[in-house]
Amino acid sequence: MKKQLLFVLAMAAGITAAARDFVISTNNTSLMLTATEGEALKVRYYGDKVTMTDFDGTPKWWWDAYPTFGTAYNYPSCLQVSHADGNQTTDLAVVSSTEENTADGKIVRITMKDKIYPLQVVVCYQTHNATDIIETWTEITNQEKKKGIVLNHYDSAFLPIHRGDVWVSHLHGTWADETRVTTEPLNEGGFYVANTDGTRNAHVSHPELMISLDGKPQENSGRVIGAALCWNGNYKMRIETKDLDYHLFFAGIDDFASQYHLDAGKTFDTPKLALTYSQEGLGGVSRNFHKWARNGMICHGDRVRDILLNSWEGVYLDIKEPEMAGMMKDIAALGGELFVMDDGWFGDKYQRNVDNSSLGDWVVDMRKLPHGIEGLLAEAKKAGVKFGIWIEPEMSNTTSELYENHPEWALTAGGRPLQLGRGGTQFVLDLTNPAVQDFVVKIVDDLFGKFPELYYIKWDSNCPLANYGSNYLPKDKQSNLYVDYVKGLDKTLQRIREKYPDKVIQACGSGGGRTNYGAMPYFDEFWVSDNTDALQRVFIQWGTSYFYPAISMAQHVSSSPNHNTGRVIPIKFRFDVASSGRLGMEMQPKEMSPEEYEFSKKAIAEYKKIRNVVQFGNQYRLVSPYDNNKVASLMYVTDQKDRAVFFAYKLQHYKMQRYPLVRLAGLDPDARYTIREINVDKEKNRHPLDGKTVTGRVLMNSGLDLHFNPDEEYASRVLELVKQ
Ligand code: DGJ
Repeated sequence: MKKQLLFVLAMAAGITAAARDFVISTNNTSLMLTATEGEALKVRYYGDKVTMTDFDGTPKWWWDAYPTFGTAYNYPSCLQVSHADGNQTTDLAVVSSTEENTADGKIVRITMKDKIYPLQVVVCYQTHNATDIIETWTEITNQEKKKGIVLNHYDSAFLPIHRGDVWVSHLHGTWADETRVTTEPLNEGGFYVANTDGTRNAHVSHPELMISLDGKPQENSGRVIGAALCWNGNYKMRIETKDLDYHLFFAGIDDFASQYHLDAGKTFDTPKLALTYSQEGLGGVSRNFHKWARNGMICHGDRVRDILLNSWEGVYLDIKEPEMAGMMKDIAALGGELFVMDDGWFGDKYQRNVDNSSLGDWVVDMRKLPHGIEGLLAEAKKAGVKFGIWIEPEMSNTTSELYENHPEWALTAGGRPLQLGRGGTQFVLDLTNPAVQDFVVKIVDDLFGKFPELYYIKWDSNCPLANYGSNYLPKDKQSNLYVDYVKGLDKTLQRIREKYPDKVIQACGSGGGRTNYGAMPYFDEFWVSDNTDALQRVFIQWGTSYFYPAISMAQHVSSSPNHNTGRVIPIKFRFDVASSGRLGMEMQPKEMSPEEYEFSKKAIAEYKKIRNVVQFGNQYRLVSPYDNNKVASLMYVTDQKDRAVFFAYKLQHYKMQRYPLVRLAGLDPDARYTIREINVDKEKNRHPLDGKTVTGRVLMNSGLDLHFNPDEEYASRVLELVKQ
């Protein structure tokens, strides 16, 4: 308090207090800040690791680390607040800082206060040394005694990036075609990715991006900054390029219809922005994110994933006990370890035969499953597989007992008729309401609590937040809805994870709509896309892997012709594509031909041998499907570089077409690796290097000829490399 007073007096007298430089470092990167009491916190540098003295003698830095609106510059800012008396401006000055060690780094917190208003902003940085990730966020406290303030705009972070040949890579798509990679140079004007769905923020664009500093992005070379906003709701990541030498990068919650009313004494934590930097191109940034994810940003990142069969594309809503039992036996016979019963198992008064009813009525439909969940668990035990179940707990249908009993739990835009989604009847429940949060926790208690043997839940979300209005939030806080929905969901998931820390939960949002690092700490994995067409999946999985590790990517082999595209694809190609992530199946196994069945059995056995490398290895993307090389190729290498798995896929089929030599990466150049091809469907197609031993140097420098059969439309390779 005393220090603060002295500090205010010093400011009033125009005395400049001492500056303190912070070098916030990980094993290979540094972020440099200057905190001078009485001035705003400055950001100086982000990139390769440096020491405090490296910048000695260089000019004073002037970019605010967390620019605010209305005083210093007419440049874009992170924070714009309406203070209690209506003043729209904020001017922050450093008052103190703390540093605290953590298991894998430290947390630096720099506290700033407005020079006039009772507003405190703590800018926080948390380092993760081994993965080269620095998370940054702010904690904004309304220190008014009684009155509320409004956060009109409240980004998580800002970073100035010097202009040059700077490119941005981001993910863009839609339902059944998620995570298309888009790459473009940064020019004058504005660039942004944003989302306004309310519940699923990753269908159309993703809350992550990469910024390449050395020209057109390369997979394994060049300096790249990666950024991922850890938020499960609407976001905006923008890069403004104006009349300055810098691109101005901002990231945070989208302020659209989200002016946040903050009561006196309350603190608002902005979501974390995870930053990373690598000199090893896009791939280096991806590997940092993957390791950080496995180290704690996804659930059970150190646990081997089971091979599962999901019932959705096999039977859709037509759930019946004998079919479920049959599927369990089939996946067990194929070598799988888990069966997941998808949508269609619930509803008493209203049966869920079509997707237009019963969400919210989470009781077993005894007409379909006469022996209930107990019966299914008994069947799973008999078959020797674990059992999982689908729910969509945040949603309901107007045709449901839940809606009849609790119409007030629907999000509604005042007296307006409900805008209804899937099936013409679906809507989103008001998760800002603690009673609804309790209801959702109870859904899970009624499953995991009552049936301890139940192992897995698929948590779906198939409706946007279409009705903008809450019966729970007070009238003057309706614009808190988008944010408080996410915070309500967060609280709910936290309670669930506290109770059921060991269970497996999959995030799903009409396919890949829930893939974000705000949600992932509660989930083990996510459903990558409703599109299971193996050819299109090569593109979708490629994009997803920019930010997410293979262990978190649910990739299922489905039937042919594919239900989404009608494409006929051989079982080998389907398995080879799915095996590059968390392998599963999604079909009625009974419908497979005997050849497909036999192939599947062998491919599952092979996956068990390589899954440790795929799920925990370092990923190297080798040839991008987006570069029009007619092939795509990627590989995984263990930390010790003693084992690797290589994947390649032929993407086009024209007579006499040529393929590039694929240069492998990440191996030990001096080591000799014995190559074993797996999932060979025809002897004549076996790769000539099968059984041979080759040095890492040759594989990485000279490259590997794919030897695809020119007469077959689909071709793929999976090669296991073992160091001798
Ligand atoms: C959408 C999901 O993405 C699908 O996998 C499936 O679970 C359906 N919902 C079920 O309704």
